[in-house]
Amino acid sequence: MGHMKPKLYTISNAAGMSLTASSLGGIVTSLKVPGPDGKLHETLLACRSAELHHGNGYMNALIGRFGNRISGGGFSLDGEFHALAQNSGGKKHPCSLHGGETGFDRCVWNVEKYAGAEGPCLAFTRLSPDGEEGYPGNLFVRVVYTVTEDNAWRIDYLATTDKPTVANLTQHAYFNLNGGVRDVSEHVVQVDASRYTAVDAGLIPTGEVPSVEGTALDLRAPTRLGDVFARAGRDKLLKGASGGIDHNFVLDRTAPGLAHAADFLDTESGLAMQVYTTEPCVQVYTANFLTEAVPARAGQTYGKHWAVCFETQHAPDSPNRASFASTRLDPGDVYRSTTVYAFGTLETDDCDCRGDDCDCGHGHGCRCGNGK
Ligand code: GLA
Repeated sequence: MGHMKPKLYTISNAAGMSLTASSLGGIVTSLKVPGPDGKLHETLLACRSAELHHGNGYMNALIGRFGNRISGGGFSLDGEFHALAQNSGGKKHPCSLHGGETGFDRCVWNVEKYAGAEGPCLAFTRLSPDGEEGYPGNLFVRVVYTVTEDNAWRIDYLATTDKPTVANLTQHAYFNLNGGVRDVSEHVVQVDASRYTAVDAGLIPTGEVPSVEGTALDLRAPTRLGDVFARAGRDKLLKGASGGIDHNFVLDRTAPGLAHAADFLDTESGLAMQVYTTEPCVQVYTANFLTEAVPARAGQTYGKHWAVCFETQHAPDSPNRASFASTRLDPGDVYRSTTVYAFGTLETDDCDCRGDDCDCGHGHGCRCGNGK
């Protein structure tokens, strides 16, 4: 399928929200949502062409078969070892990252456009052959992007296999609610997670799942990212993740199903985004590896801390960690996962605080109404 020429597809709802994605890696090249000014706002960073996204932090691509890192050269299933390409971490901390050398972000998918019950859809399908990137089993994958009529980007993942295997699919969207004109210091983030998976110097989980209490990863209350970045040079956890957040947060879910995971808002554009997921965890990544050399959309320059990724997932290295929720998929079972990025605007009416001297945490200029 690799020889097929990638094509771009656009879907939009009645409010004008639109999503453009490539058949290459399901890469989203544009996601525009209505703002408080009634205009459409770009919410994702992007490169000049989808072909450039792999080398620039997997920007806005579908990730598979396994999101994030697998250590130890591979994993064992039913006593059989499956070696994986060591495509990250260099000589010191080799690991498999985001599906290997040619992960799902580099594959050309079959795309079907149709009208779904909640809004217009793009369905991406692909049969990942047995042994692809070292993973066992023919894995059939179907991922549906919906632009819902209430201004959300909904992603439904489905996979089936003909041999026992592992699967952990996600989307690596780089959100910047300012349209990518500056970094995300004035954005506010909140994550429903009391615990995170601790990592070693190679960003591989140690198996410990400590509390966020008292750490820079306590994002349970709305937190201005500029304040997090200001600590990044001194704080041990942030330093260890190349000067920012790049951690797997374990969500405080009380029941299975679609649940709120995070809030992301920009006090300057007045745009707000809520993340909902059926997954147990989310990798929050503040684009610590992004450089100014990113071949960005015409006329733009990006750099470190210019976006936040909310990669909903099972914990990294789960195939090697029996204590983590299992990522195993057996023949006859169906892998299903749903994530919703729901867009809205900050309330503009009933907050006198303007953020300057208020508990809301949103920072200067905020008009959220959640303060005192
Ligand atoms: C994930 C990882 C990061 C980094 C990015 C891609 O967020 O956790 O360490 O590899 O993907 O650059």
